[in-house]
Parts: sequence; C-alpha cells; structure tokens
Amino acid sequence: MTTITVHADKPGARINPKMWGVFFEDINFGADGGLFAELVKNRSFAFPDPLTGWHKLSPSKACGEVAILSDDPFDAHHPHYLRLQSQGTDVFGVANEGFRGMGVKAGEAYHLALRLRALVATPSLRIALYGENGALLEQVELRNLAAGWEMRSVVLRPSATDAKAKLYLLVVGAGTLDIDFVSLFPENTWKRRPGGLRADMVQALADLKPGFLRFPGGCIVEGSELDKRYQWKNTIGPVEDRPLLINRWNYEFLHRPAPDYFQSFGLGFFEYFQLCEDIGAAPMPIINCGMACQFNSGELVAISELDPFIRDALDLIEFANGPAKSEWGGKRAAMGHSAPFNLTMLGIGNEQWGPQYIERLAPFVAALRAKHPEIQLIASAGPEPADERFHYLWPKFRDLAVDIIDEHCYARPDWFFDNTHRYDSYDRKGPKVFFGEYAAQSDKMVSVNNVNSLECALAEAAYMTGLERNADVVVMASYAPLFAHREAWQWTPDLIWVDNLSLVRTANYYVQQLFMHHRGDAVLPVDVFGTASGRIFASAARDDATGEIIVKIVHPDAVPGHANIILPGVAPVQASQIVVSCASAMDHNSFAEPEKVAPVRSTVAVVGTNVALQLRPQSLTVLRIKVR
Ligand code: AHR
Repeated sequence: MTTITVHADKPGARINPKMWGVFFEDINFGADGGLFAELVKNRSFAFPDPLTGWHKLSPSKACGEVAILSDDPFDAHHPHYLRLQSQGTDVFGVANEGFRGMGVKAGEAYHLALRLRALVATPSLRIALYGENGALLEQVELRNLAAGWEMRSVVLRPSATDAKAKLYLLVVGAGTLDIDFVSLFPENTWKRRPGGLRADMVQALADLKPGFLRFPGGCIVEGSELDKRYQWKNTIGPVEDRPLLINRWNYEFLHRPAPDYFQSFGLGFFEYFQLCEDIGAAPMPIINCGMACQFNSGELVAISELDPFIRDALDLIEFANGPAKSEWGGKRAAMGHSAPFNLTMLGIGNEQWGPQYIERLAPFVAALRAKHPEIQLIASAGPEPADERFHYLWPKFRDLAVDIIDEHCYARPDWFFDNTHRYDSYDRKGPKVFFGEYAAQSDKMVSVNNVNSLECALAEAAYMTGLERNADVVVMASYAPLFAHREAWQWTPDLIWVDNLSLVRTANYYVQQLFMHHRGDAVLPVDVFGTASGRIFASAARDDATGEIIVKIVHPDAVPGHANIILPGVAPVQASQIVVSCASAMDHNSFAEPEKVAPVRSTVAVVGTNVALQLRPQSLTVLRIKVR
C-alpha cells in the first residue's frame, strides 16, 4: 500500500496556464502531405525533376507528348509548366500520385484549380479521379479553353472513398494544352478555409487544448546549409509566390530517404499564427540565429553580417503584433488579419551549441531587448539534456539574462523514470526552463524500431509529474515530433500518426491530453511513502475555478497497486478518475486498433477523509477530488 499525502492546505508555485504545449515541425510529411491539405504533389512543376509526382498516361491508341517548358509562363514565379500535346487518337495526359496517394471521401466536394491555355486547336481537358484499384471515381470536362493563360476551377465529387486516389489530366481531341499550378483541396478543410489545413489533424490538436505551439522546427529552422534554412518571409503572401525549398528530411536519414519531400510553404507563418489562434495556443516561433545545423554543415554567418537575420526577428514581431499601418503588420492585414496575433515569446536558434552560438545569440538578445523588451527570449541548450555542450551553455545564458532555456531529450524510458527529480535542485532565480522536445524511445534515438508504447507514455507521464512539481522553474514543455505519415515518416516515435484518410492518437497523446486538460493552477506538495519498488510518481495541483484537487499518479509496474490519498486539512466529498492503462507495457495504438490504449473514466470511493485507489498495472491515473 502506498500513501500519498497531498498538502492541499499549502499551495505552492503557480502553474503557467501555457505549461503544456505542442511542437510542430515539417518532418514525417507533417506539413506537405499532412497538415496542409493540398492533395497534388509538385503542383507547379517546381521540383528539381519537374515531373516528380506526375507520370505519363498512355492508353494503347494514344499518341502524344509530355514536356516541361518555361518560356512565357503564366507567372514569373513559376517558370515551369506542363505541355500536353495530343494527336487525338485517344485521350492522352498525365496523372498525379499525390502524397502516397490522395485520400478522398465519397460524396464530398474537392476543389480543383489550375492555370491553363490551349495553344493549338481547342481540345477539352478531362479531369478525373481514379481509385487505387483503377475504378473511376469522378470525371468532368473543361471545354472552351482560352488561348491565353486563365485560371479554371471545378468541383469533383468522388463516388467512393479511397485512400490512394490519383488525379488524371487528359487531353480529349487533338491539340496542345499548357498547364500549371494544379491544385486539389477538400472543401472540408479546417474551418472550411479554401486552401486550408486538414480538418481531422487540426481537430486532434484542438482536442489537446495546448497552451502553446512551437513552430516551424526543429532542425528545419537551421537548414543543413544556410541557404536551406527556414526563412519566414518566404512563407507569407500569395501562396503561389512562396518559393519551394527542399525539406531537410528529404535526405537527412539515408535509411529513410524521401526524395519527393519539399516545402511548398502553403502552411507558412501566417497560417501558423492563425492555427495558434484557432486552437487557443500561444505562438512560439523559432528563428535562425545565423547558424546552419551543427549536425550537418555547421555553416556560420559572420557576426558582422548578422544584421539581416536580426532584422528578420524584429520584422517577425512587427508581422505578428504591429499595427496594420506598419510595413510588416500591413502584410499581415493584407492576408486578412488586421488584429495582432499577440506574440509574447521568440526562440533564437534550435539545438545550437558552442561559443559560436553564444557570440551570435548576444547581438540578437541586445537588439530584441532594446526594441521589444515585452518579448520573452528563448535560447536552446543544445540536443542533449546534460552533456558538455549543455553545461557550457547554461552559465552563458545566465550571463545574457535569457528568459527561458529550451532543453531537449530523446532517451530510453529509464532516463525519464530516473530523472523525475531533475528540476528539484535547479536554481530558482535563473532563467526558466522550457522542456521543448522530448519523447521516450522504446529502442533508441533515431531507431526505426521505436514504437509509441504504453511504457514510453508512462515514462513521459512520470517525468511530467516532476515538471509539474517544479512549475516555478519549468514553465513549458512539449513532446516531439508531433505528426507522422505512416508511409512517409523519417522519425519515430511521434505523437499522432496519420494516413491519407484517418489518424491515430497514441498513448503518448492521451498522456499529453490528460496533463493539458487537468493542469491545475497551483502546485500542491505531495509526499509518497511505502512503495516497494520506489516506482510511484505523483504530483498534485489545485484547480482555482472548481476548487478541485487534481492528483496525477504514475504506476509503471506490471502488478496492481493500492494508494491511499491523504488530504490533511481538507475534507474530500467526491472523486473521479481517468486512467490510461493496458494489458502490456509494450501495447500501443495502431490503425488496426486505434483506441487500444485510451483514457477510461470512473468514480472513486471516498472513505472518510481519505481517497482509496486501486492502481491498475502500468497506468497513469488522474484523480479529481471535490473537497468541502
Ligand atoms: O524532433 C526531431 C528533431 O530532433 C528536431 O528537428 C531536432 O530539433 C531534434 O534533433
């Protein structure tokens, strides 16, 4: 029997209302092929191989040619376009494969738009959706095509649901057609915004109720070389004008290559801020600090040439918060959001280290402090939670008076169980901590064998009780990475797995969700006595709005346990619990069994002044106690 004493009469630190958040990076087809709902891959023939994602269709009697041209394009931003030349012996054209297929749903509306001109003769253009097994799902024909570039659009309604449909563009009759910027979007995007985000994926984020959203990465911020870094200014304004960039996860892992992975920036900085607003999360952009990824080239911008990088940071604050009449606030307003986005924090660099980082961080801090003392500055403590690089950086951050330090850790579950007291001894007067990337690895970091096991989720939950108990030092935390496409991932484990039609919330997702939904406002001290193995982890908090006491208990062992919750000075009247548990520590959710590990609610008996709990084997229990 374990005794957990919750000192509800001695409330401690306030818990940041934004404590638990999410971290998004375009990895694992998280943006293109994921959150950004565009179904056509390489829609403007801008990939280095302009026909990536497209292939020629040659019915037996068809006679024609496919070419990529660049003279007289419809828009100088898009030099390449597709030419289809058919002799008219049969329909002739190309198909787009989408992102490992296109997910379409029966009867729903899909908006097809393209730029088109008829050069020789006036054939028509047949637009069709075919399913994975070759069945025709929908077709429409565009006629009366103009001789000059024009935008044409049409709505497609597939007759059946298919996770791997393809889009066909077919010339009907003899003639030549030029085609560019081919786009196919579900009507049912998040908030039904044209050209918007995938509704179910945003819903999964909204369902978490995250306190903040860190974006756009991750290593993607840095670039393997500087010219491949994330430049937010290239990601705003008309979507057609945003220049394509190779995604570093295209080539980062030789064991998981993704040669068709590029960033279209259809999900750009405006959309990130809008997403934050939609889901009630505080925006936390991370910007490049004049360094490429030190795991790759480690290219550096000379200190004397850092100004444009610092300018980008200052302009970003104006883009987010400035009045509509300011230069960058005006660009935000022109995109449809004249009110500010209320940016309050900014990360400078991701996983940098060494003196090179400090030398570059210093001028950023000076410039940002001078112009925007209201913005909290976040610095990165490197890729590991306790190595030499980490220990070198921390004192330097203190000297620079950075507000928040971003610590990262990907490690075996044991590391998380063993380090729940990591922050008990942290300096209470120094910078605050943001535990910005973490995930327990069932095998090892970057192993393709990692799974989102219950054991990993419980290790994270145990660690999170330590973060909560130290809420005076740790002010934010986020799991990483967030999304992964089941056929196009580079990194595992991940919080949410998707295919083209559905998604799976992992055990880790449910742990995050329980902490977000049951955060509490003030830390309550807890004492845990009497565990044979020492493996009970607990934290407690008071919910100001309801007066309830929230107790989180992680019991990772494979046998049932008993806990007696003692609440000196208060009288419990009613209790309920939500439990995440399963038969085996290696159990995990999958597309076949998406809810195998999921929270289950029940009531709990209050016995006199105590609450008696049966702890399920390998479980997280969130207990809510109403008190008199
Ligand atoms: O989350 C995946 C990667 O892990 C991030 O891009 C990087 O910051 C870390 O190394």
